[in-house]
Amino acid sequence: DASDIEKGTYPHYMLKEIDEQPLVMRKIIQAYQNEKGDLDIAEDIIEAVKECDRIYIVACGTSYHAGLVGKQFIENMAKIPVEVHVASEFSYNMPLLSEKPLFIFISQSGETADSRAVLVQVKEMGYKALTITNVPGSTLSREANFTMLLHAGPEIAVASTKAYTAQIAVLAILANVTAQSRGLNDGFDLIHELGIIANAMETLCDSKEEFEKIASEFLPFTRNCFFIGRSFDYFVCLEGALKLKEISYIQAEGFAGGELKHGTIALIEDGTPVIALATQENVNWSIRGNVKEVVARGANPCIISMAGLETNDDRFVLPAVNELLTPLISVIPLQLIAYYASLHRGCDVDKPRNLAKSVTVE
Ligand code: AGP
Repeated sequence: DASDIEKGTYPHYMLKEIDEQPLVMRKIIQAYQNEKGDLDIAEDIIEAVKECDRIYIVACGTSYHAGLVGKQFIENMAKIPVEVHVASEFSYNMPLLSEKPLFIFISQSGETADSRAVLVQVKEMGYKALTITNVPGSTLSREANFTMLLHAGPEIAVASTKAYTAQIAVLAILANVTAQSRGLNDGFDLIHELGIIANAMETLCDSKEEFEKIASEFLPFTRNCFFIGRSFDYFVCLEGALKLKEISYIQAEGFAGGELKHGTIALIEDGTPVIALATQENVNWSIRGNVKEVVARGANPCIISMAGLETNDDRFVLPAVNELLTPLISVIPLQLIAYYASLHRGCDVDKPRNLAKSVTVE
């Protein structure tokens, strides 16, 4: 119950939950470690993943965005093909399923009706499902064959923050452990890398004034705002845009850098804020090329890059972390920028208009 969870000295749950992210990372590392100190998950989940020929991730909103990142982990590490679907579209646009599908439902609350409808549907078809949720005993957890918990503690703010990073960390663990069980161990030390992530998250949470400055410089009067990125950064841009629109009511969209010239660039006017993420070495120069294109049309750019890839044009440089795991840290500036934009525009940060924490109707 929201009233039982104290905000403490925090003015809003959202800010408290953003700050909890380093702790949640450390809790997740602990929760998924066995006696030998190795990452581990339930044997029946490993078996189910091993037996399947394709994984279908189904989710809504922020959880869907985490699923997009999770697909990359599972395909990269465990070499199993993955599709990610928006739950509300799944029954109309059901893909041709593979012979041995495994379904993964990602849901902070475990109560989202759109996701549950798909779970009921695929169970009737005789398929197995794993739910990744923050709430033990939730509907989606009870009704699935398997559950992995997020260990993020109650998330009260309507805008999801710590659940997103927890979902990504748990998906990384799932990918890593199943990769090892398939003999695909490439020496990637995920415990060590997640420890570095937790420290980097702390650094970012200690840099709040920077993000408040960015919000007050770029967003106080704007009608819209664009987020651009390529590869992993694109997925984080989708999440950054969702955060901004739900709590600040600024019309925001996340785009793949390469898609700009196929239409969106027509929207750029004098002063349009464009927040660009540059955390991936292989696309660093192409995303910077996209920034030049929007600047030439009057955009006001804010580049957030990762240490090692930065240039003098950048507004903020993220601490260096493993390239595969950058979504865990690049999202934090976007969460904080959305928070301060909402605050400065006088919006209700924790309870934005028209929205419910969990959407229990289809
Ligand atoms: C995120 O900030 C949202 N408020 C929303 O998109 C949310 O992620 C979505 O409704 C899914 O909820 P769930 O994870 O509890 O299923």
